Amino acid sequence: MDIHDVLDVEAIRADFPLLDRRINDKPLIFLDSAASSQKPVQVLKAMDDYYRCCHANVHRGVYMLSERATEMYETSRKKVARFIGARSWREVIYTRNATESINLVAMTWGRINVRQGDEIVISEAEHHANLVPWQVLAKEKGAALRYIPLNNDGTLQLEALDALLNERTRLVAVTQMSNVLGTIVPVKQIIEKAHAVGALCLVDGAQSVPHMPVNVKDLGCDFMVFSAHKMCGPTGIGVLWGRREILQDMPPFMTGGDMIKRVTFETAEWNDLPHKFEAGTPAIAEAIGLGAAVDYLAALGMDKVRAHEKQITAYALERLAEVPGLRVIGPADPELHGGLATFDMDHIHPHDLATILDAEGIAVRAGHHCAMPLHMKYGLPATTRASFYIYTLPQEIDALVEALYKARQLMTRQISL
Ligand code: ALA
Repeated sequence: MDIHDVLDVEAIRADFPLLDRRINDKPLIFLDSAASSQKPVQVLKAMDDYYRCCHANVHRGVYMLSERATEMYETSRKKVARFIGARSWREVIYTRNATESINLVAMTWGRINVRQGDEIVISEAEHHANLVPWQVLAKEKGAALRYIPLNNDGTLQLEALDALLNERTRLVAVTQMSNVLGTIVPVKQIIEKAHAVGALCLVDGAQSVPHMPVNVKDLGCDFMVFSAHKMCGPTGIGVLWGRREILQDMPPFMTGGDMIKRVTFETAEWNDLPHKFEAGTPAIAEAIGLGAAVDYLAALGMDKVRAHEKQITAYALERLAEVPGLRVIGPADPELHGGLATFDMDHIHPHDLATILDAEGIAVRAGHHCAMPLHMKYGLPATTRASFYIYTLPQEIDALVEALYKARQLMTRQISL
């Protein structure tokens, strides 16, 4: 399989020092980028340079270093705004991760806009991060949480959505790509339907923003959330993008320094967007790292990133289908399937499987992948997931398949003993 016409994967791999590691005396085959991607030298260098030459707190000092740090921090925000097609950098709020971004919306917008008898619609494919905050809010407010059901192939039953939406629906919160099924969800259609009944729409872009072109203006959503560490950036920083007029009306999330304009002994006045939502010293180096990650991905071209992953996914789905007793869950069509393959292999617990694969130098994720209700739906307590990124090679899929044959032989022998 020749994938080099889309991305120069060998050149990309040379930017990722960790990919040169050996694990258990075997070359590392990293197939867990949906959990967290590896980092290119460009991101590591940007963060290192900042600490070595420019570190000071932001928004506070009038001395040169602080001004330089502030400029670097805010430049990162402008890069992120451009990357997702935001109208203004003021709509980009830095949080710790996508989970915190969703909690922010639930605890601020949700607290003042969701009342008893209201409804929130999510899908059965959601990660716990886009499920539990709404469950908690709904319980607190006496609201109802409704689920868009899944078809057996992991696609959403969009025809069921119309019956779920009504004038009591306040919010529809859906993933743009399932972290388990890989399903690419037609969120634009969902957003339009949500707006037609006067509801807002939050898109969980944790698995989509790192892997495909995403433009919030074109989508027309109201909130978009994602994490830096899944898109070549560092851990500890994530993004909440929201429409300016909605963010303006939301109360702050956390309070303290930096998020105020004026404080008296009696009261406080909130800062302008986005700083109203960024209390305390932010993750400055991480923001700079995220800016470098965005530069890196933008230079590759997100359409090419998606095209590369589509090829790798198509190849993985084809090769995995050869393995006896292996069942992939999620859409069979690579057009509808993001860069991962989640599977069950008869008789073998995913933790055992992942341990056997690790002995071969192959890193995959095993478990419920923070989506227990989804696994219950498919009658599986746990699954094994191989996930791909810009540095994944078809030979790595071959190595995975070979190791799965080996694991099968080993486990079947043990079972028959
Ligand atoms: N949400 C991340 C995953 O799917 C951690 O692995």
